[in-house]
Amino acid sequence: MKRVNVVVVSHSTHRPLAVAQLDALSGMITDRFAHIRQSAPPAEIEKQISAMEGALLQWLVRFTNARSVLEIGTFMGYSGAWLAAGLPSGGKLLSIEKSREYHVQALVNLATLEFDIANKIELRCADALDVMPELVNAGTKFDVVFIDANKLGYPAYVRWADRLLQPGGLLIMDDVLLYAGRNEVRITKMAAAIDEARNAIFRDACYDPMILPMCHGLLLAKKIA
Ligand SMILES: C[S@@+](CC[C@H](N)C(=O)[O-])C[C@H]1O[C@@H](n2cnc3c(N)ncnc32)[C@H](O)[C@@H]1O
Repeated sequence: MKRVNVVVVSHSTHRPLAVAQLDALSGMITDRFAHIRQSAPPAEIEKQISAMEGALLQWLVRFTNARSVLEIGTFMGYSGAWLAAGLPSGGKLLSIEKSREYHVQALVNLATLEFDIANKIELRCADALDVMPELVNAGTKFDVVFIDANKLGYPAYVRWADRLLQPGGLLIMDDVLLYAGRNEVRITKMAAAIDEARNAIFRDACYDPMILPMCHGLLLAKKIA
C-alpha cells in the first residue's frame, strides 16, 4: 500500500529559525510581491504565507504544468500573485474571498501587478462554500486547489476540492500544523477541523500526500485517481 511521507516538525533542522530568517537565509528568493503583503493591516500581516511559501507555490504550479488554479481565501491577493506567476500564458487562477473589504483591497493590489500576471487572475467576492458547489455543478475542474481560509471550514473545503480536482491534480492546504501540540480551549474546534481535513486526505487512497514543516505546515497531495 502506498503510504504517507510525513516530515514531522520536530525533525526539521530549521525548527528554531524564524520564518523571516529562513526567507533571508534562502537568499535566492526575491519577494516580488512584498508591496501586496505589506498592504495588509499590520495586525494581520502574518495571516499571509511567507515569501518562501509563495516561491514554492509558484514553482509547484509551474512544475505540475498547471493551467487552472482555484484558491480559497484571497485576503490581500499575495498568495494569489505567486500562484498566478507560475501559470503559463492562457492559464487562469480563480481566487475566492468572503470579505468585501479584503476583496476590494485585493482588486486594488491586482492593478499593481504586471499585466501578464494580473491578466490570469479572477477575483470573486463570495463564500467559497457557495461557489464550490456551483463549480462542481458546472463540471469545472482545476489542476491545483490551494486552501487557506478559515480553519473551521477546512473539512468542507477538502470535500468540495476533491470534486473539483482533476485526476493527477495537486491539493495544497496551508496551516495544517498550526495548532499541533497545543490544546487551549480557544483553539480546540479549529485544531479538530484541521485534523479532520488533514486526516481525510491521508486516509484516502486516492491521494499521495506529504506535509512540509515550513511555516505553519503545508500539505501537498497529488490526486492519483
Ligand atoms: C489566511 S487568509 C488568506 C491569506 C492568503 N492566502 C495569503 O497568504 O496571501 C484567509 C482568508 O480567507 C477568507 N475566508 C474565510 N472564510 C472564507 C470563505 N468561506 N470563503 C472565502 N473566503 C473566506 C478570510 O476572509 C481571509 O481573508
